[in-house]
Amino acid sequence: NEIKIFSPATVANVSCGFDVLGFCLDSVGDEMVIRKTDKKGIHITKIEGFDLPYEPELNVAGVSALAMYEAIDVDFGFEIEIYKNIKPGSGIGSSAASAVGSVFGMNELLGKPFNKTQLTAFAIKGEALASKCEHADNLAPALFGGFTLVKSLTPLEILEIPSPNELYVTIIHPQIEIKTSEARAILPKEVPLQDAIAQWANLGSLVHALHTSDYNLIQNSLHDVIVEPYRSTLIPHYNEVKKAALKAGALGTGISGSGPSIFSLSKGLEAANSVKEAIEKVYSRTNILFDMHVSKINVEGVKIL
Ligand code: HSE
Repeated sequence: NEIKIFSPATVANVSCGFDVLGFCLDSVGDEMVIRKTDKKGIHITKIEGFDLPYEPELNVAGVSALAMYEAIDVDFGFEIEIYKNIKPGSGIGSSAASAVGSVFGMNELLGKPFNKTQLTAFAIKGEALASKCEHADNLAPALFGGFTLVKSLTPLEILEIPSPNELYVTIIHPQIEIKTSEARAILPKEVPLQDAIAQWANLGSLVHALHTSDYNLIQNSLHDVIVEPYRSTLIPHYNEVKKAALKAGALGTGISGSGPSIFSLSKGLEAANSVKEAIEKVYSRTNILFDMHVSKINVEGVKIL
């Protein structure tokens, strides 16, 4: 009647795949306990780590849970405990982890009536509370693991893309908060055709490179000519970090989701650690607090502990 789960952090956009591409991290995530209770409805009974609302209608995990609860007909309710490790507004899918965790846990306790795409659809409702618009590029990798591509939102269609074995990610999280809604508001509503061509060429080739484990092509594809020029201005020392990471051997560096976290992909753990050291040097010279993670791609996604 009770289940404990790990709901992972994720990197959305991955440079050229704004709002569609994402991947799952294995070293950072939230823990949640979901419990059946006689009291009908959704009840958030504990939140540790960050100060978030207990009212289900105002809490991302609560909103996605309510969306699922409305779709089932049961004479019991659910209690949710949230042990939050992913800082809200950090750019590594904090709201997605919450939104996914509650519906994944409830689904397990119900005997898995819903598939992962259906769970994503419930979780989108929670994610929308945080970012003021519906997108699933953090939710899908948190649920499916690995790399995912959201082919379409209506109807919801998610593609699973293979993760090359030696791909590692280095994340730096500067301790400033960027609200996704604000980072979206500064983006242009229209893009020049030439930029669109470059972007979809890179996205197509990145997806091909992931399928063929072609690290050189991954390197050649990790560019973002549309979003990065706007959002990088919100992240202190972004260009220095990127330059240092590429010099240290990263295949590519970009903004994680809507920032402020910055991700770098590398071939092999050793390279990912060198990239970490190089970025650490840049940020140590500033007065901004930060934390860093090196992670393998998590191919499993959200899981029972
Ligand atoms: N694709 C989204 C964005 C991810 O970049 O705005 C952040 O939640």
